Amino acid sequence: MSSFSCWDLPMALLALLCCPGSGEEAFEVHMWPEQLVVESRGSLEVNCSTNCAWPEAGGLETNPVKTLLGNHTQWKHFLISNISQDTVIYCYFTCSGKQQFKEVNVSVYHPPKQVTLTLQPLRVVTGKSFTIECKVPAVAPLKSLTLTLLHGRKMLYNQTFEKATPDPQEAIATLNVTAHKEDGQHNFSCQAELDLRSRGGGILRRTSEPQALQVFEPMQDNQMFIIITVMSVLLFLFVMSVLLCFIFGQQWCQKRIGTYEVLAAWRRQPRA
Ligand SMILES: *[C@@H]1O[C@H](CO)[C@@H](O)[C@H](O)[C@H]1NC(C)=O
Ligand SMILES: *[C@@H]1O[C@H](CO)[C@@H](O)[C@H](O)[C@H]1NC(C)=O
Ligand SMILES: *[C@@H]1O[C@H](CO)[C@@H](O)[C@H](O)[C@H]1NC(C)=O
Ligand SMILES: *[C@@H]1O[C@H](CO)[C@@H](O)[C@H](O)[C@H]1NC(C)=O
Ligand SMILES: *[C@@H]1O[C@H](CO)[C@@H](O)[C@H](O)[C@H]1NC(C)=O
Ligand SMILES: *[C@@H]1O[C@H](CO)[C@@H](O)[C@H](O)[C@H]1NC(C)=O
Ligand SMILES: *[C@@H]1O[C@H](CO)[C@@H](O)[C@H](O)[C@H]1NC(C)=O
Repeated sequence: MSSFSCWDLPMALLALLCCPGSGEEAFEVHMWPEQLVVESRGSLEVNCSTNCAWPEAGGLETNPVKTLLGNHTQWKHFLISNISQDTVIYCYFTCSGKQQFKEVNVSVYHPPKQVTLTLQPLRVVTGKSFTIECKVPAVAPLKSLTLTLLHGRKMLYNQTFEKATPDPQEAIATLNVTAHKEDGQHNFSCQAELDLRSRGGGILRRTSEPQALQVFEPMQDNQMFIIITVMSVLLFLFVMSVLLCFIFGQQWCQKRIGTYEVLAAWRRQPRA
């Protein structure tokens, strides 16, 4: 036991860390890019390479169709096309009888192509509730999707999806809101964001058409009622007065005619 000094263990660790293999360079295989995201039915290029000077064999194992674009001793360049589902591709080389490979996961996405926002109802009285619904058909992966409901530039609600199915699905976000007086001043909209950064991609965003909400004051409704009542009463009085005028006018005429008849009868009387 005493043969181990305090220095031996750290020195051994250091040697392990700094000089692995401690001789010729280890045989390695690389694939570039290291993470792949592709739109459904899309294609991408990969470069499969090795540090082995004279590899005996090398290539790519894939399910989707592959095309060799560049064939060199130390690297091979491929086009993989019509990728329709998540897959794993393998790049391999054989050097001095030993085989090494590198695997890369390919994630397929369906971008949010269509974002629809609906307000139900479109006209609402202050204090009453209305529903905001956002729909995105056939989007994937749902795990990377966030639907944000916006009022003007203000974020009202974020909807995320925990379901891990890789198949494209319809994504829906709904929110029930109480109408405020100022809700009619800004439009409502919905933003769909597919964040593929953890899979080696970027962020894809699409926003719905803006939707306007018409908000009414309950007071306004009372005022409308009063105005309509007053108008009705005025109209009634007007019609009545016209009618009365007409009736009284008729009576006056008849009186006049009656007088004439008396006069005529008097005129028709033979003069004595
Ligand atoms: C593939 O990778 C190798 C090694 O990194 C590089 O020398 C070569 O130029 C690359 N080929 C293409 C087409 O990018
Ligand atoms: C690629 O090149 C090697 C020689 O460097 C050759 O043996 C092999 O057949 C070529 N492969 C294709 C698919 O052209
Ligand atoms: C692409 O793949 C799908 C199924 O994976 C197949 O139905 C379709 O015919 C393919 N298209 C092409 C152009 O190869
Ligand atoms: C590929 O995906 C599997 C699971 O889907 C995971 O376990 C593995 O670590 C991934 N490989 C790489 C290189 O990201
Ligand atoms: C929604 O998520 C964004 C970031 O994605 C964040 O800035 C915002 O505060 C969130 N809004 C709500 C209402 O949770
Ligand atoms: C919103 O309200 C409707 C009926 O008013 C109800 O059916 C629905 O479940 C509510 N939705 C949410 C997310 O609260
Ligand atoms: C709301 O959207 C409509 C189009 O749908 C637009 O004409 C109007 O200017 C927008 N209003 C505001 C306040 O942004």
